[in-house]
Amino acid sequence: MSVLNHINPHVNKVIPYQPGRPIEEVARELGLNPDEIIKLASNESPLGVSPKAVRAMKKACVEMHRYPDGGAYYLRQRISKHYGFPPDHFIFGCGSNEIIEFIGHSFLYPGVSAVMSEKAFVIYRIICGMFGAEAVEVPMKGLTHDLKAIIRAIRPDTRVVFVCNPNNPTGTMVREKDVSAFMKKIPEHVLVVFDEAYAEITYKKMPDTLAYVRKNRNVIVLRSFSKAYGLAGLRIGYGIAKPEIIHALEKPRQPFNVNSMAQIAAAAALDDQGFVRRSRRTYRKGATLIMKTCSEMGLEFEPPVANFMLIKVRNGIEVFNELQQKGVIVRPMGPYNLPEWIRVSIGTESENMKFLSALKEVANARKK
Ligand SMILES: Cc1ncc(COP(=O)(O)O)c(C=O)c1O
Repeated sequence: MSVLNHINPHVNKVIPYQPGRPIEEVARELGLNPDEIIKLASNESPLGVSPKAVRAMKKACVEMHRYPDGGAYYLRQRISKHYGFPPDHFIFGCGSNEIIEFIGHSFLYPGVSAVMSEKAFVIYRIICGMFGAEAVEVPMKGLTHDLKAIIRAIRPDTRVVFVCNPNNPTGTMVREKDVSAFMKKIPEHVLVVFDEAYAEITYKKMPDTLAYVRKNRNVIVLRSFSKAYGLAGLRIGYGIAKPEIIHALEKPRQPFNVNSMAQIAAAAALDDQGFVRRSRRTYRKGATLIMKTCSEMGLEFEPPVANFMLIKVRNGIEVFNELQQKGVIVRPMGPYNLPEWIRVSIGTESENMKFLSALKEVANARKK
């Protein structure tokens, strides 16, 4: 019998995550000039990398013969000052995605379950599958988490509840009073994961979930350097929780999971709050333009709170393909059971204009 007959049965059932398509890949496939393609498919920073992070990285290049500091001492000190939590309240990952995986390693296994919204970030479901835990998917209220229904779905075997806020891909946010009512009902045997990858760039007020960390609750708040600071390519994210939870998540962490360059860039990026403010302004302006144009075109959309939004185009996969032919990469939402929608990341002014003019051409051609 081949080794291939002995793949871990949980892992074997996993359908791998489909990320946004890279520019170079689309260029190769369609014979297009990569310089003329725009990617609005992975909610990346259209303003590039935080300039302070770039300067720090340039200086650090010559130190790359050393292994990273596995404990991320300098970054830990810097982020501790930023948030006002002691250094032992943080865990760093190769992207916040890796921390979701640590949660799987430490809390999910056959016989237990995790509760999430049906159209929440798909990685939660993948991680449940990988560790043999049941993913209990709760219908949303429209495109927003239904926190009351999530509470009702919690069972004695539930170990983790995921709340993605703002939710990727739907772009909706749960608000302070709903979170507060939700947290009153959460039982002691459950870890609540607030996945807040976009927290710094939202232009509506985020619920204060860190308050629950301060109150010693079984909560972890996940944040990322990928979005607000433009460090997606370096892969660095973090979780904030009480030390007992951090300790449990440190067990499966490999010693050098976060590379030195990422640690250095992240620490410098925290000093670049001007970059974050500029990004937020860019998104807000871009969102206003995209919403106005969609309204003029008679297209339904979900008003964004961060740097991405859903637009109802009737046939998401066809419109995705047609936009791609015109050098615009977005995301079709079929895998989230939203086949009529595409998700677009908000870009620079010229990227948004290119997207909208391609969308108009596609829409006009489809009317014929
Ligand atoms: C809601 C959400 N959580 C986590 C992530 C992963 O972010 P990171 O780049 O930090 O792994 C993403 C990335 O798009 C996301 O949208």
